[in-house]
Parts: sequence; structure tokens; C-alpha cells
Amino acid sequence: MKNFISVNDVTDINALVEKALAYKANPLVDKTIGENKRIGLLFLNPSLRTRLSTQVAAKNLGLEGIVFNVDKEGWALEFEEGAIMSGTTVEHVKDAAPILGQYFDILCIRAFPSLKNKEEDYSEQVMNAFIKFAGVPIVSLESATLHPLQSLTDIVTIKEQMQKTRPAGGKPKIVLTWAPHIKPLPQCVANSFAQWVNAWGEADFVITHPEDYELDEKYTKGATITHDQDAALKEADFVYVKNWSTYTDYGKIYSNDPDWMLTEEKMQLTNNAKVMHCLPVRRNVELSDEILDGPDSLVTTEAGNRVWAAQAVLSEILKAQ
Ligand code: CP
Repeated sequence: MKNFISVNDVTDINALVEKALAYKANPLVDKTIGENKRIGLLFLNPSLRTRLSTQVAAKNLGLEGIVFNVDKEGWALEFEEGAIMSGTTVEHVKDAAPILGQYFDILCIRAFPSLKNKEEDYSEQVMNAFIKFAGVPIVSLESATLHPLQSLTDIVTIKEQMQKTRPAGGKPKIVLTWAPHIKPLPQCVANSFAQWVNAWGEADFVITHPEDYELDEKYTKGATITHDQDAALKEADFVYVKNWSTYTDYGKIYSNDPDWMLTEEKMQLTNNAKVMHCLPVRRNVELSDEILDGPDSLVTTEAGNRVWAAQAVLSEILKAQ
């Protein structure tokens, strides 16, 4: 694996998932493969899980991880080609990225979308600039449109759960449901989850959201899409809860309808489904306390699995170097 930006960088999803689960069973089995190598973790936005799980994963492989909070401690970066830098930006990515490529063997980057300019966000200007100029493998820690480490973790968590409850196999029904939120959020997690579940191809996949919350078809094609949440939830095995802002009329909140929040009553429609969320979550806005604190919530296991997904990805990149 050269870079890890989307599911398209993965040749065999199941093999990568099994590798992550093998690391969960034996975290230090490859503790020397990253010896004498460093990864840089660059954050242009906040993080709890991604930052810490990737650092733990790197340490398990013998890599030295160095975190740089670019948003708080770095020079303001310019990404526009040919920019006349007479405004607030101080350093062009063309100058910064090759230097970072000399300091690190792998660069990991988190850069959220502006939610103001769809074309700019969906062109993945930041991630593509680092790929172009750094000269070392790039790992997305969540980009303007996708969150691949989260989605790999989500498939790991689903497969792990299925190995416990359905050893004979069979296709699970997975429902991605929109949830209310007070702020306009990126589409990244939903886009990425849809992209990975579709590429994985081993589930009946349904997406449900209010009208006008359609995601980019590039990611959702292959899923059943409905505005009827109750119908979607029927016989679900996994319910993935996430808010996103509008894609078509970009970055807006059209609805904050609390009826879209998942409750125990709605869970009665499912096949004793397990509930997933990438976190952070706004309790009793996106998801009720009763669900988050109840026996069907996988959110803590899911967040824990972030380590093993990151470790599997870093290991694949190290192997290819
Ligand atoms: N799920 C996730 O990416 O969490 P953080 O934003 O805390 O990294």
C-alpha cells in the first residue's frame, strides 16, 4: 500500500480486516517492523480517537510518532497554486510538504472541509497537495470528503461482532441513518462508510435520511436509499448513526427534526441490532442516553478498534517501503 486515502487504496478489504483483528489478538507481533522510522501526525483540526489510536498503533509497530497541531502551532498554510500570498497564509504547502517528507517516513494528515465551497472541498485540495509534494506515503486521518481509518474500523467492528453472533456467516443488514445535530457537519464519515460497505459487498446496505440530505452518488451507489427511517430499520443487524449537512445545497442544515434520533422504541423494529457511531456524539441530540448506555451500543468497542485498523494500515505501508 502506497497511500491510504480511500477504500481504493486497498486491494483486499477482508484481508486488511483480518490483519486488524490479528493485531487486536496480538498487538506486539510486529513490534520491530517500524524500528528507526518516524511518522508525522499533522492535525489541521481537533481529534481525540484518531490522534491517540494512530500513535498507539505506531508504537506497537516500533515507529516513533510525532504529533504537530498545525492549526494551533504551525504557520498558516497556503494550498492554492499560484497564490499571491499577501493575505493571512504564511507558508505554501509546496515549500512545507517536501520538508516534512524529509523528516518523516510516513505523513498522516487530518484536514476537514470548509463546508463553504463544495468544488474546493470535493477536489481534496489539502490531501492531494501533500500527496503531490511530500514524497512519502500519506495516510488520511480524515479529509474533506472521507474518513477511511474510521470506515475500516467500522468494518472490523461489524466483522468481529458477526464472528461472535453469526459464526455460520450470512449477509447482515446494515443501516446508515442520519441523525439531528445542532451544527452543520461534514459528509466525510457517511460518504466513507457508504463507500467501504459498498466496496466490501457483504451486506444488505440501506441508507436513510430526510429529504434533501442525499449524499454524493459516487459513494452511495449500490445502497438502497429511503426517507422512511422506520422502514429502513426493519430487521436491521447494525444501525450506524451519523449526522451530515446537506450535500446538494452544500453545507446547510435543512432539518433538525428530533424524531430522527434513534430511540429504544425504534430499535424494536430491528433484529436486535447493534448501534454504531464514530464519536464524538452529542448525547440526546444525535443519540439517546438509553441507547448509548445500553447493551446494544458498540461505540466503545468501535473506538477501541481504531488502534487495530490504524496498525494494519501502517503495517501495510511499511511492508511496501
Ligand atoms: N471518530 C473520530 O475520528 O474521532 P476523533 O475526531 O476524536 O479523532
